Amino acid sequence: MTVSQNCSLGGCNVPAIDDIRSPTNAIEPDMRAQIVLSLKQAEPVLPSMLIWDDTGPSLFENLTQQPTYYPFHEELAILTRWADEMARQVKPGSLLLELGCGDLTKTRVLLSAFERCQRPITYYALDISERDLTRGLRRLSQVFRQSRYVQVHGLLGSYEDGMQWLATDAGDTGVPEAVKAQGVTVLWVGNSLANYSRTEAGALLDGFVRSCGLRHLPCQFFLGLDSCQDLDKMGACYDLSPGSPLETLIMHGLRTANKYLGSKVFDLRKWSAHAHYELRDHTLYIYYVPTHDKRLLVDGCVQNLEDRILAITSGKWLLSDIEEMCSAAGLQISKSWWSESQHYGFHAIQPATTETGLMAKTGILQPASRG
Ligand SMILES: C[S@@+](CC[C@H](N)C(=O)[O-])C[C@H]1O[C@@H](n2cnc3c(N)ncnc32)[C@H](O)[C@@H]1O
Repeated sequence: MTVSQNCSLGGCNVPAIDDIRSPTNAIEPDMRAQIVLSLKQAEPVLPSMLIWDDTGPSLFENLTQQPTYYPFHEELAILTRWADEMARQVKPGSLLLELGCGDLTKTRVLLSAFERCQRPITYYALDISERDLTRGLRRLSQVFRQSRYVQVHGLLGSYEDGMQWLATDAGDTGVPEAVKAQGVTVLWVGNSLANYSRTEAGALLDGFVRSCGLRHLPCQFFLGLDSCQDLDKMGACYDLSPGSPLETLIMHGLRTANKYLGSKVFDLRKWSAHAHYELRDHTLYIYYVPTHDKRLLVDGCVQNLEDRILAITSGKWLLSDIEEMCSAAGLQISKSWWSESQHYGFHAIQPATTETGLMAKTGILQPASRG
């Protein structure tokens, strides 16, 4: 692991960013192979990581500025209202690890609550996009540079890298000694967990609990999840008309795919993006759909597509779906905070073991009621 004091973009006013990318989790080398393989499948799926290159997060930020993009606004409203109560759910002196932190706008609201409540916290922002991690941390450090309670750090890597980082004793770049006894709160907002199926999501959460367990670190989660079932509201939010912020973000995935494939396999003028909400699993599916020709020339071979390529999924899980996922992963919800519309929730989740009781007794998890 290397440690970079990143001075290239933000000057030296950016908190140190630890580069925890592991070669075994490397995305780049096998991305081309993954794309080619997936295009040969009966139901092709392009890796969502294609959207999250260094440009993707800024395109996502444009999307969040749309008044109709309720997941951002409702989550921000929940944090603005309940951040103090949330901060009190975290034991003073513990580690707060945020996965896929993005531009950190919402995080700033939560961290300010730790400052207000005088609860010391060591915060690590993790993202795969170096450019946006640097940009977000530069903004955040302006607010917390003088803070007595909030220490800010960056981790450059994937979710899997973050999991390994928690599990490994890596000297200076690992979990700081000072926070080990107090435990870890994993923060995952923006409904990003629901880009996975519920089974995959449960396995990911379980992976983080296990990583913490290997180091005897008590672990809990703060998850921001979208439970909206209002189809009109979803329709306005997920506007995929040509040139809309969401369409631009999604189509960016095809541009990145061309980069990996080394040629203009996807002519963007001949593709559109379509969304379909599946009531059976409460999940929104966004597809790339060819408007002209279902044939693609990949590696000199013609691929005949059935009709569409899956770009991204976004679960709109009901509370019962979330409870089911948690239960399958040996977890339980200890507290939920809902937006005014009740369409978006922020959930504190912890392992459902007897150890949990012990953690609650020691104050790592406060006894909490369902909100
Ligand atoms: C939908 S944005 C959410 C950003 C922020 N959490 C928010 O709610 O506004 C997803 C973020 O996760 C990052 N990301 C996506 N896949 C990732 C992965 N496998 N590992 C680490 N970061 C990832 C992206 O770069 C992007 O910043």
